[in-house]
Amino acid sequence: MSSKYVELMREEIGTLKPYIPGKPIEEVQEEYGLERVIKLASNENPLPLSEKVREAIEKELADLNRYPDSDSRLLKEALARKLAISEDMLLFGNGSDGLLKVIGETFINKGDEVIVSDPTFVEYIFVANLMGAELKSVKMKDYHQDLEGILAEITDKTKMIFLTSPHNPAGTIIREGELKEFLDRVPENILVVVDEAYYEYVQDEDYPDIIQYIKQGYPVIGLRTFSKAYGLAGLRLGYLFADPAIVALLAKALDPFNVNRLAQAAALAALEDEEFLERTIKLNEEGKEFLYRELESRGYGYVPTEANFILINVRTDALKLFDELLKMGVIIRPGDPLGYPEHIRLTIGTMEENKIFLDCIDKIKG
Ligand SMILES: Cc1ncc(COP(=O)(O)O)c(C=O)c1O
Repeated sequence: MSSKYVELMREEIGTLKPYIPGKPIEEVQEEYGLERVIKLASNENPLPLSEKVREAIEKELADLNRYPDSDSRLLKEALARKLAISEDMLLFGNGSDGLLKVIGETFINKGDEVIVSDPTFVEYIFVANLMGAELKSVKMKDYHQDLEGILAEITDKTKMIFLTSPHNPAGTIIREGELKEFLDRVPENILVVVDEAYYEYVQDEDYPDIIQYIKQGYPVIGLRTFSKAYGLAGLRLGYLFADPAIVALLAKALDPFNVNRLAQAAALAALEDEEFLERTIKLNEEGKEFLYRELESRGYGYVPTEANFILINVRTDALKLFDELLKMGVIIRPGDPLGYPEHIRLTIGTMEENKIFLDCIDKIKG
């Protein structure tokens, strides 16, 4: 980038790398002249929109000339009830991405140290760089976050630690005992953000209930989203929960009206549609077991997942495989930009989509 305006920008902007999203279906259709393209790249819910959510959205359309409730009051009441927490522990944002930025803007000063895993979800790196933080990365150990390694990186300049459970792209979780020991050893003046974007998919009974830690006074911010299991990625709605004193500070940095009317109405209906959520989890579990079996029979290694995607070790040039699948109308994520060059990350799709993926892999292998 070179223009006279570069001199005007904040120096932090120069450190930012653009986010590379999964390729949109329409783009691949156009580029390769394909009619059928399936996307297993962005960990979206493959089910069509819940009927109850559709009705709620349609009903809300009539009021789009009015600003939304800036406090998302009805949604907040419903979610607080469901999570058994007080309303002042909740905050909504334009996707959890939007909330991550608010967390950074509220708490990270230039020069503060922020610790993440390597690899990690890129948005944490974006936020740390945007705020001018010193980023420290701790290598993953056997596809798990190295909590001991993270503790070893803490200094008196550390402001924030980002954990992800289930981890993206590994799909592994941090277990109860590990988390408790970790939180007990982190100094009180450091905020620990625990991103649980894939919370609803987790089957492991040893998955910690971080709300209990927040209630006990640990400086933890929990983050979840309606983009994944609730199937509302296109509407952009995430939420966080934390001690009311933390939430009050974050609320100061929030854009007014940051959650639109359709998102609020849709999420309220989605919370009530338990059948849709059950169907989503069942489909994911079936797809997961099916893909495990089929991948094993083809000799591929994979990381057992607690989320709606699988990190698969293809032991070849994953970028090449990505290209070949793309030409056949299957969009996946190559592991290279995600930190695992010999891997691909595959979102678990509908049974039909999973089978198409496997058919294409077989054709490529010959
Ligand atoms: C770990 C993790 N956190 C957050 C997000 C972003 O979610 P949202 O759509 O709520 O911004 C994603 C999306 O892929 C994710 O994988």
